[in-house]
Parts: sequence; structure tokens; C-alpha cells
Amino acid sequence: MTNGSAGSLAEEFNREFHLRPAIFRAPGRVNLIGEHTDYNDGFVLPSAIGFYTRVAVSPRSDGKLVLRSVDFPDAFEFDIRNLPGAKLGAWCDYVLGVAVELAKQDPTMPGASLLVHGEIPVGAGLSSSAALEVATALAFLSLTGREMPLQSVARLCQKAENEFVGAHVGIMDPFVSCMGRKGNAVLLDCRSLEFELVPIPEQVKLVISNTMVKHELSGGEYNQRRAQCEEGVHLLSKRYPGIRALRDVSVEQLEAQKASLPAVVYRRCLHVVLENRRVKEAARSFRSGDLPSVGRLMKDSHASLRDLYEVSCVELDAMVEAAEGLPGYIGGRMTGGGFGGCTVNLVESPQAPSFAEAIAARYRNATGIAPDIHICSAADGANQEQEINSLSPSKQ
Ligand code: GLA
Repeated sequence: MTNGSAGSLAEEFNREFHLRPAIFRAPGRVNLIGEHTDYNDGFVLPSAIGFYTRVAVSPRSDGKLVLRSVDFPDAFEFDIRNLPGAKLGAWCDYVLGVAVELAKQDPTMPGASLLVHGEIPVGAGLSSSAALEVATALAFLSLTGREMPLQSVARLCQKAENEFVGAHVGIMDPFVSCMGRKGNAVLLDCRSLEFELVPIPEQVKLVISNTMVKHELSGGEYNQRRAQCEEGVHLLSKRYPGIRALRDVSVEQLEAQKASLPAVVYRRCLHVVLENRRVKEAARSFRSGDLPSVGRLMKDSHASLRDLYEVSCVELDAMVEAAEGLPGYIGGRMTGGGFGGCTVNLVESPQAPSFAEAIAARYRNATGIAPDIHICSAADGANQEQEINSLSPSKQ
């Protein structure tokens, strides 16, 4: 991950558009536990991390929406009153999806120039897309002065990704990108959006290990898992009419209906039902200072994602195994959607640097791939970094 700054993005914006922009930033996230539970109305325990996507913005009077990125060569220009109805298959889709949603709510939204810079590796399961959507939403909202609670911003970003990008993701990523808090994980009820902060002890680091295998959420596997869960709910609700989502199903209910479910649907449901329990238990264990229990729950979560939900891969399993037995290691698992991306490891702070070196060497030996390892702490959610200096719309 590269570290950018608001200052250098403002200079770049100034070179491109001859104006000083306002700058908004939104962080990536790492999910500590609660995987594939968010779209089942369940519970998750992610943290925002200190790697950001920044969006520099200034309004335009010519009704154009001009999109550039520091990271990608392709630039885009649209008419704000006539935005595309379907995705283009490029980085701009995340920005467009948000613009389309906001323009529906506010037909007076002005044109704008945007310059984007992301520090979060794309396809690593650290939520680069949600960070771009959240920073974009704040940038557009600033143009009209419209106030929107951050939780509604998160919902809007999820809708943009579901409907425009076509990835049927849950609320976790945009929510924690908006609401993350330094030093804390966020225990989120994905049905009610009620949340509690769960302090992560200071002597613990989040070591994020990138397998360097890219995953793609708009690819079919993620949406297929979601459909299998929905099938489970449909079948179970014939027997238990009160059930709206897997969140409402107990292990006992699921076991009683095992014979009436296709085997694969049963496995998916069992993962989700048990994972929801693990999230709540992990939050309790963090609070009581029982870190070994958190570690065990993370290990069980990984095994369940590998064997029941089948979203791990050889490299993720190798990275989890590479951590076993290293000094300072508390627990770890794959994080995010799966099929590649990163593992998250809880590691005692003093041992974090040597842990990072050792896990990298072990993983390289096992797979032949050199991983990226990042020693992180929980960070704050999205905010504005730089006020706009010139409010006069640009014509460039
Ligand atoms: C991706 C999605 C999230 C969530 C995770 C799996 O990160 O964006 O909504 O479903 O996968 O937990």
C-alpha cells in the first residue's frame, strides 16, 4: 500500500483542473470475525484501517462530471444530467454508481471534477471499493451542502455497489469505512444497524498478510453464496414461518431440517448460523480480555469458511498455516469475501515485526509467492481532510 497525502493530491488536482479542491478520505477495513454474515442480517466485527482512498473535488458550472485517477491512466467525462445507466467495467463504476444514486435523490446536483487516489490494494479483500464509494459520496454531498447521516451514506454506497456495479455485497464495508473508530472494532448488527465499539487492547496489532491472489466480488461465486443462503431461508421458512434471514435460525432448527435441505445449502447455512454466534462470543472475549478465546474463534471461523462455506483457497490456507506457532500469534483467519486477498492476524505488539518477517518467509517457501505484510491498528472512519479554498465553479 502506498501512503498518499491530502497535500500532494491537492497539488495534482491543481495541475489538472487549476483549482484548489476539497478533499475527502475513507479508510479500508479488515474484518476480525463475522464473514458472509452481513447479507444474512447477522453480526460482524470489523475495524477501519489506516489506509485510505482520497477524493479531491470541486464543482463545475458546465454540467460535466470529469473523473481522473492518480492510479489509473483512463479518464472519463459524463453529463451529470444524463449519467450512464449501466456499468462501464472500469474504476469509474464505483464513482458513477454513487453519483447515479445521489442524482436520483437530488436532481440539482452540479457537475464536478474529481481526482481519486487510493492506497488500498485493489482485490485484496480490504474494501478498496467501499472506501472509494464512501469518499465519493462525501465529496458529492459537499457540493450541495446536503447533510446526510453517515449511516445513510453507508446504505447509499451499498445500494450503488449492488445495483450499479452488480456485486450483491452487504453493509459491512461501507458502514465501517464510515463509522470506524481508532483503537476499536465495530460490533455491528447488520439488520438494525445498531453498533457498539469493542476496544482492541493496545498491546495487540492487526497484522494483515496479503496472499497477492486477487479476488473479484462481482464475479459469480460471491453472488452464488448469497443465493444459496436465500434458498436456505426460503426452504427453512416453510417449516419456521417467522424466519426472514439466516440470522433468525438457531443451530437446533437447522439440524432438525437438515434432511430437507440440499447438502450444499445446509453447509452454507451452518457456517452462517455458527459464525454469528462466534462474533458475539469474540466481542465478549475481547471485552473480558480473553485473547486466547478470540484466537480460537478466529481459527474456527477460518475452518468453517474453508470447509463449509468454501470461500478459502490454497494460498489463504497456506497463509493461515504459516502463522501457526509463531511467537506473539494470538489467532488469525482469512478476511473479506475470500478466493484470495488477505488474512488477518492478531499479534502481540512487541512481536509484530518479527512475526511479519517470519510469516512472509514461511508463505514464500510454501507457495513461491512473495506476500505483502502490513502491521496495522484500528483507525477512524471517513472524514473531510481539506476545506475547499475556491468555491468558483471550474469550466475546464
Ligand atoms: C465482502 C463484502 C461484504 C461481506 C464480505 C464477507 O467484503 O463486500 O459485504 O459480505 O465480503 O463477509
